[in-house]
Amino acid sequence: MARILGIESSCDETAAAVVADARQILSNVISSQIDLHAKYGGVVPELAARAHLERIVPVVREAFAQAGLSYGDVDAVAVTQGPGLIGSLLVGVAYAKAMAWSLGKPLIGVNHLEGHIHAVLLQAEQNAEADQIEFPLVALVVSGGHTALYLVQRAPLAAKGFRYHYRLLGQTLDDAAGEAFDKVARHLGLGYPGGPVIDRLATRGNPDAFLFTRPRLRRARPYDFSFSGIKTAVVRRVEKNGLRGEIEQRLARRRADPQAPLEQLCTPQTLDLLASFQKCVVEDLAERTLNAADDHDARTVFASGGVAANSRLRTIFAQESAARGLPVFFPSVQLSTDNAAMIAAAAFPRFLARDFADPLALNASASLPLGR
Ligand code: KG4
Ligand code: ZN
Repeated sequence: MARILGIESSCDETAAAVVADARQILSNVISSQIDLHAKYGGVVPELAARAHLERIVPVVREAFAQAGLSYGDVDAVAVTQGPGLIGSLLVGVAYAKAMAWSLGKPLIGVNHLEGHIHAVLLQAEQNAEADQIEFPLVALVVSGGHTALYLVQRAPLAAKGFRYHYRLLGQTLDDAAGEAFDKVARHLGLGYPGGPVIDRLATRGNPDAFLFTRPRLRRARPYDFSFSGIKTAVVRRVEKNGLRGEIEQRLARRRADPQAPLEQLCTPQTLDLLASFQKCVVEDLAERTLNAADDHDARTVFASGGVAANSRLRTIFAQESAARGLPVFFPSVQLSTDNAAMIAAAAFPRFLARDFADPLALNASASLPLGR
């Protein structure tokens, strides 16, 4: 059995986990910085890097404590190498390099997006459903920083284990889907992060109240995405329908009482607007993903990343893929958003292939690509 320590610090979560054979989660510790960034309405890179620095040591210590292991018990150290915020990535990478070097253990640099894809495989292992996953598959990675579609192939290695191959089919040309959720929430005075709040409030609104036109991309780019247009359309609706006053009132109430329930501070019109916005975004994600799956004869569909925690997205994906006879898999909500268990899981095939990084030379990369 190979026990791998995973470390993740690409954005605003400091995370460490120990996972055995990409299957058994021995610990999964996440220290979120949401409270730190909430008052700025988004992640402030300098604050994030400093917070990672303060938290990485206790977070790793906690991951070992929960797993009931000591540092020397792991077989390898895996770390998110990129993409992400460079100052944040550097904290995890420097820590992992020092740890691997001092313990004399192999070091594995993992692409964050590959981690999100392996979160789905790890979840399927938890549900004893891994044998239902067939390749090739189409994976949507959709978060606050990324919206990308991959065609994933898997080939057995001569010795043991598999090699995964990723082909980038398309990605967002402007904002990530999660960014659109966050910006709309911020504009409407609903706080940060926007996704979970909008998900909750949208259940009380009518998703057909407002018709937003879906992005029209050139025929040559059927699997690309664009979300800045819908965000602007929501902002325009706010002005046109005179919702400014309501937003000011909501912000004032929340300043006086940060716990004041948003449900009671939103008019039916605002709830309709949120529901309609969410519907437009998730339907667009589902349609492009399932079209890509059809066009590439995929046998399975994956959706992962923070936005894949969205309840309407899950419903639409389940409905649409069932209609096409395609099984769809998601991680649990905890494994959808950033975590280190997915990094440890993604590293396992590379551990088997002895595909290690030099602990003195590994570098963080803010724009590390996955597939081409
Ligand atoms: O994967 P993640 O934790 O970090 C990145 O790699 O970006 O994703 C965070 C993003 C944020 O934009 C957040 O608003 C969004 O995921 N998110 C959601 C939901 N939960 C988180 N978006 C829509 N619905 C949700 N339930
Ligand atoms: Zn992520």
